[in-house]
Order: sequence, then structure tokens, then C-alpha cells
Amino acid sequence: MTTIGIIGAGEVGSHIARAAIANGYEVVIANSRGPETLRGLVEALGPSARAATAAGAAAAGDFVIVAVPLKVDNDMPVEALAGKVVLDTNNYMVWRDGHIPVIDSGQKTVHELRQEQLPTSRVVKAFTHIQAPRILTWGRPAGSPDRLALSASSDYVDALEIVTRLYDQFGFDTVDNSPLSESWRSAPGQPAWKQERQSRSELIANLAKARLVKASAVG
Ligand SMILES: NC(=O)c1ccc[n+]([C@@H]2O[C@H](COP(=O)([O-])OP(=O)(O)OC[C@H]3O[C@@H](n4cnc5c(N)ncnc54)[C@H](OP(=O)(O)O)[C@@H]3O)[C@@H](O)[C@H]2O)c1
Repeated sequence: MTTIGIIGAGEVGSHIARAAIANGYEVVIANSRGPETLRGLVEALGPSARAATAAGAAAAGDFVIVAVPLKVDNDMPVEALAGKVVLDTNNYMVWRDGHIPVIDSGQKTVHELRQEQLPTSRVVKAFTHIQAPRILTWGRPAGSPDRLALSASSDYVDALEIVTRLYDQFGFDTVDNSPLSESWRSAPGQPAWKQERQSRSELIANLAKARLVKASAVG
């Protein structure tokens, strides 16, 4: 049985947890306030879920989802995430996160920054341009004419493979938008982020249409 550690139990973390359990995974999920505050969610998720601290979820996961906004002062459990593939769902939102100069200047993408913060993990940007509840409802079996695609970006081939398998199980095709330095192409404000329902060919075209137009749109 594969266990997914999930750090972040909000919109994205809780919907990925539901989709993962529906596909036969165990999940260990965490928020910032402690496992006791997740009793209701864990009860709703059923016996394949348990709550832990962020470090506990990281340690338990065969791979880990980080569904938490990135902070300049890293608040992720670096040691417990060491050696693991980390799927990061973060979108950089200036209204929420404040300005992060290295991202605004185009020097780094937000996911390169996450990779720097987790130097012993293998980060992959995933699930960033789909609204969380759609993860459960928009999936279709492989080969369906209305199957949609999601992008993923990483500097590590095995991290890409894990996301590709997970997307497929959830009912989505993958478009590889690697490496992390290219991940701004799916950032908030870009065509691939704005057009939520995209076939594989539409997503490829939208990623190609991306333009670095303003600092706050870089992700
Ligand atoms: N909502 C969407 O549809 C969507 C879609 C794609 C991508 N995203 C991106 O994905 C990220 C998560 O979004 P969301 O909508 O799920 O946010 P959210 O509903 O606000 O949930 C954030 C979660 O992160 C937890 N958290 C924050 N800091 C933490 C820490 N240091 N350790 C452990 N847990 C921590 C929070 O716990 P507490 O509540 O205990 O503080 C909360 O459970 C954001 O960057 C967002 O932009 C969102």
C-alpha cells in the first residue's frame, strides 16, 4: 500500500486526499494547528486516513504533497522531507503572500525557490491550474474524448513519473512543462492557468503562448 503524506489540509490538500483514497492510497494529512484539529476531516475521509504533524505526514509519505503557500521563511519540515519526491501545489499570489523580490524580478520561479528550500527533496509542481473540487469531478478514463490535461514541472525524472501516474489515476493526461525554470508558464495570469478545462493539445498550446508580462504573474 502506498502512503501519501499531505501537508496542508485546506481546499487542495483535502480534495487530493479524497481522490487519493478513492484510488487506493493511504493518506497522512497535516495542517499548521495540529492533528487534533483535523478530527472531523479524518472521520470524513475514513479508515485510510490519519492526521499527523507536518513532520509526521512528511515522514510517513512514500511521497508527499505540499499544499501550502510558499513562505520566504521556510516553514516546511526539511529533514522529514529529505530524499522524498514533493508535489508542490503552490501558486504565488501577491495579494496573499506579499512580494517576493527574486520571483518578481524573474530571477527564479516560485518552484525553484521551493526546491532551494528543500534541497534534499525532489520537487515537482503539480495540480496548480485546476480548482481543487474539480480534481474529484473532472477526471475521465484514459482515451476518453473529453479527457483533460494538467501540467507538471520538475528537475527530476522520477518526480515527473510519480505525478504522471497520479494524474492518470485521477483521470487526467500530463503535459511535461519541465524544468522548474519553465514552470512560470502555468503561473497565475498565464493562458494555461486561466483556461481551466484544457485538452492535452490545448494545454501544450497555452504553455507555448505564455509571456512574462508582469512581475506578479511569475510563478
Ligand atoms: N484552492 C484551489 O483551488 C487551489 C488550486 C490550485 C493551487 N492552489 C494553491 O495551493 C496552495 C494551497 O491552497 P488551498 O486553497 O488549499 O489553501 P487553504 O485552503 O488556505 O489551505 C492551506 C492549508 O495549509 C496549511 N498550512 C499552512 N502553513 C502550514 C505549515 N507551516 N505546516 C502545515 N500546514 C500548513 C493550513 O493549515 P491551518 O489551517 O491549520 O493554518 C491549511 O490547512 C496555495 O498556494 C494555492 O494558491 C489552490
